[in-house]
Amino acid sequence: MHTDAEKVRSHNALVDLLQMAYSAEKAAAFAYQGHAGSVKSAEQKAAIRQIELDEWGHRHEVLGIMQHYGIPVSRYYELRFHLIGRTISGACYVIGWFMPYYFAGRLESGNVCEYFRLMHYFHELGITEHDQALYDMGIREKEHEVYFLERIKNRKALAWFERLFAWGNRKSLNDVDLEAKYSVERSEAYCRK
Ligand SMILES: [Fe+2]
Ligand SMILES: [Fe+2]
Repeated sequence: MHTDAEKVRSHNALVDLLQMAYSAEKAAAFAYQGHAGSVKSAEQKAAIRQIELDEWGHRHEVLGIMQHYGIPVSRYYELRFHLIGRTISGACYVIGWFMPYYFAGRLESGNVCEYFRLMHYFHELGITEHDQALYDMGIREKEHEVYFLERIKNRKALAWFERLFAWGNRKSLNDVDLEAKYSVERSEAYCRK
């Protein structure tokens, strides 16, 4: 008989995705520090600051799941995402107003499915106890995506960026629709493509 911890630790894709999500949340939080610092509007600063706090919360939540199964933090991902986060944070001050919003939205769009893929992996092992937490994090990333898209959806540049980077008004990197979202129980149908 294998314990849940042994099953989880031997699921390489699950372990890797947990470690990556944990470290990538730090990169996102760092990036939003620069983003909030670089925008002028007090209202936008406050909204981005709140999103940064959400990301620190996610990092804490993911760490709790990792510790539950004895999964170590990846020193490689920690370093890599530290550098990525700091670089993006600094770049926010020099690349103008539009691009930080665009790439934040695109990044969030991809993050949504990370949490639903984690749910899929846990379900492969018969573990459902993290469904609510993973669902809440995935949906929150979708809310972040929508927030950033709302800020830029009427900008002329968006059409060009959408063509180049496959994200914008029409294209998303996930299939979550906040207007008609699934329940936790049905949500494992997300991100199957
Ligand atoms: Fe997050
Ligand atoms: Fe986010």
